[in-house]
Amino acid sequence: MPASPLRQFAIQAAAALLVLSLAWPYYGMRAANLPWPETALVIGGVAFLLSLLSRQPPWWSVMHAVFIPLAWLVGQLAIAPGWFLLAFVVLLLIYRGAITGQVPLYLTNAATAEALAQLLASRPQMRFADLGAGIGSTVAPLARRFPEGRFVGVENAPLTWAAGWLRSRSRSNVEWRWRDLWQTDLKDFDVVYAFLSPAPMAALWQKVRSEMKPGSLFVSNSFPVPEVAADRVIEVDCTPSRSLYCYQL
Ligand SMILES: C[S@@+](CC[C@H](N)C(=O)[O-])C[C@H]1O[C@@H](n2cnc3c(N)ncnc32)[C@H](O)[C@@H]1O
Repeated sequence: MPASPLRQFAIQAAAALLVLSLAWPYYGMRAANLPWPETALVIGGVAFLLSLLSRQPPWWSVMHAVFIPLAWLVGQLAIAPGWFLLAFVVLLLIYRGAITGQVPLYLTNAATAEALAQLLASRPQMRFADLGAGIGSTVAPLARRFPEGRFVGVENAPLTWAAGWLRSRSRSNVEWRWRDLWQTDLKDFDVVYAFLSPAPMAALWQKVRSEMKPGSLFVSNSFPVPEVAADRVIEVDCTPSRSLYCYQL
């Protein structure tokens, strides 16, 4: 079964409802207080079982097991609720893409940017787009390396976008757009780069195929297009290892 955020929420909610609907009447009839630490542990255990039964990836099962027990523990610290709201808002401003499209923020490393620069060495005047450009870890070094090229970074998480804008504002060959990548027309680009997640790759490939012109190049870092053979795969020598999947249009 796919590990969608809604499914994970449903697993936690089902575990909590199941345990509480048995525990509350049980302790209520005995006029005893609900033992929260034990109840939290049982909810974690049931959520773990439900995630195993519904065949979620192993890291989700671990998160299900520890989520409510940890929430109870943090609750004991008596931290003012405003801090949680603040943390939530900051995380949302950075990780908006993880909630709306299962694409979190992680950055292209220097070795991969260098491999990309070598791949693109024959296209110094390219028009290049990074779809989901993060803080500019790809656009910034490439724009420095190819001063005659035009580089567009498309990012829709506000704080991430702001960091990338600060980083690239002094470069005249960079256009830093606060925009949804799905609203970005790809027809004007010679090279489109994406470092997203497995979730959007099939739909993105449809977009690439319908908008990019013949002769242009689509490169995906780490996540291949499902059921489409890449024309070339560049294995980058770095840790963790990265592969650049190259698709010639
Ligand atoms: C894995 S990061 C890659 C960042 C950058 N490309 C790099 O290589 O360092 C993916 C980025 O895509 C952004 N993102 C996710 N969905 C997006 C969307 N629909 N439109 C624009 N950006 C999006 C996320 O906010 C995140 O910054």
